[in-house]
Amino acid sequence: MSRVAHPAGPRHGDVLPADHPLPPPGDLNDLHPGVWPRGAGRRADGVLTLGGVDVRQLAAEFGTAVYVCDEEDVRSRCRDYLEAFGPDGRVFYAAKAFCSRAVLRWVTAEGLGVDVCTGGELEVALSAGVPPEQITMHGNNKSLDELARAVSAGVGHIVADSFEEIARLAYLADGATVRPTILVRVTTGVEAHTHEFMATAHDDQKFGFSLASGAADEAVRRVLGCPGLSFAGLHSHIGSQIFDTAGFEVAAHRVVSLAVRIRDEHGVEIEELDLGGGFGIAYTEEDDAPEVKELAQSLRDIVDGQCRAAGLRRPRLTVEPGRGIVGPSTVSLYTVGTIKDVDGLRTYVSVDGGMSDNIRTALYDAEYVCALASRSSSAPPMLSRVVGRHCESGDIVVRNAWLPSDLASGDLLAVPATGAYCWSMASNYNHVPRSAVVAVDDGAARAIVRRESLDDLLSLDVG
Ligand SMILES: Cc1ncc(COP(=O)(O)O)c(C=O)c1O
Repeated sequence: MSRVAHPAGPRHGDVLPADHPLPPPGDLNDLHPGVWPRGAGRRADGVLTLGGVDVRQLAAEFGTAVYVCDEEDVRSRCRDYLEAFGPDGRVFYAAKAFCSRAVLRWVTAEGLGVDVCTGGELEVALSAGVPPEQITMHGNNKSLDELARAVSAGVGHIVADSFEEIARLAYLADGATVRPTILVRVTTGVEAHTHEFMATAHDDQKFGFSLASGAADEAVRRVLGCPGLSFAGLHSHIGSQIFDTAGFEVAAHRVVSLAVRIRDEHGVEIEELDLGGGFGIAYTEEDDAPEVKELAQSLRDIVDGQCRAAGLRRPRLTVEPGRGIVGPSTVSLYTVGTIKDVDGLRTYVSVDGGMSDNIRTALYDAEYVCALASRSSSAPPMLSRVVGRHCESGDIVVRNAWLPSDLASGDLLAVPATGAYCWSMASNYNHVPRSAVVAVDDGAARAIVRRESLDDLLSLDVG
């Protein structure tokens, strides 16, 4: 097991999940409501349904491995975030979690903006018809072409991440019809994942301008010094899969201190404070993810308190959830292949996907649960490890799974909470074509991203 990995990000080797499986659940057929999509259920005969569609029908029509995305789950979480942060706050969906035209249309129809971090994500958003003024452009190494495209398209905010970029934006602003509006990304020295956070004096990472070194103050000076640029405020993103607000409190305190210095030095009060994303979801029954409403209330209280203490008008609060919007919506559906009993240890269950469609277990030691989907079973539980089809012993989908001991080749297995950072991090390792993404809603299913074919892969090989 990697000593530098983390359930949600590449830091804090000290909090690795212990490799001791929890006891088996009382009923292996249960679908824990915190982990499964809101539209998941079982028919009277025990077959799993997603968005009202029988998983056997999905497997027959679209093949496996396949990601099945519950549209209403995504939409309802958009509404939860908007209700919690609105009407004076703004919510942008972080498209890096899962970037497809259909999903971007759903989230914008529900009233969210879209946050992109490359020219590629920007093109998906523009081609989906996302209004440019509702797009925020991120990235620590945006090329001149990407910036030019963002400026000419008229994106709502560009988040400045380096001095070179500010110079490039000043140059591009010269010929622009819309004056680029800039947020300055601040490195607060706070890093948060799941239940814990670190506040450090150093800022040993690639994003943003350091507060500690004074680079953030200098970045704001330069943006304000460019007549072609409009300075809107500050941005901070402290981590991922965060369950409590302690890290946000320290970060907000530091960002508000900078806002006070900006007011004192330039006579400018920031209009926007973007606290980024990172809100945690439940991957297993053990994860007690906070309610969005409570999270929003404590973030608002923190920012209010900090601004009041500093005598500053409260800026508009923006957040950028990715995982929190799409993570819980999607279930990966696999067909069971070989089943191998490794004496005295566990049973290895191989499925027709793996690290190419879900790298998070190998990359972050992420934990998942899974369930027999094509039927229910009352057979006793067997301790299993669900593994993929790739040529890698670290090709694990679910490290510790309790599955019924009558599991057989050809059964369908479902792994919930795979909507974020699974398809978007998918690869063609071992020349495995990437899986389709199928949207389900109200008993109907349609592909929103088609399955890759071997011909797609071969067509790239032009040597
Ligand atoms: C700047 C920024 N905003 C938002 C997000 C979304 O984070 P999450 O999907 O954990 O909510 C990220 C993730 O890396 C990010 O870097």
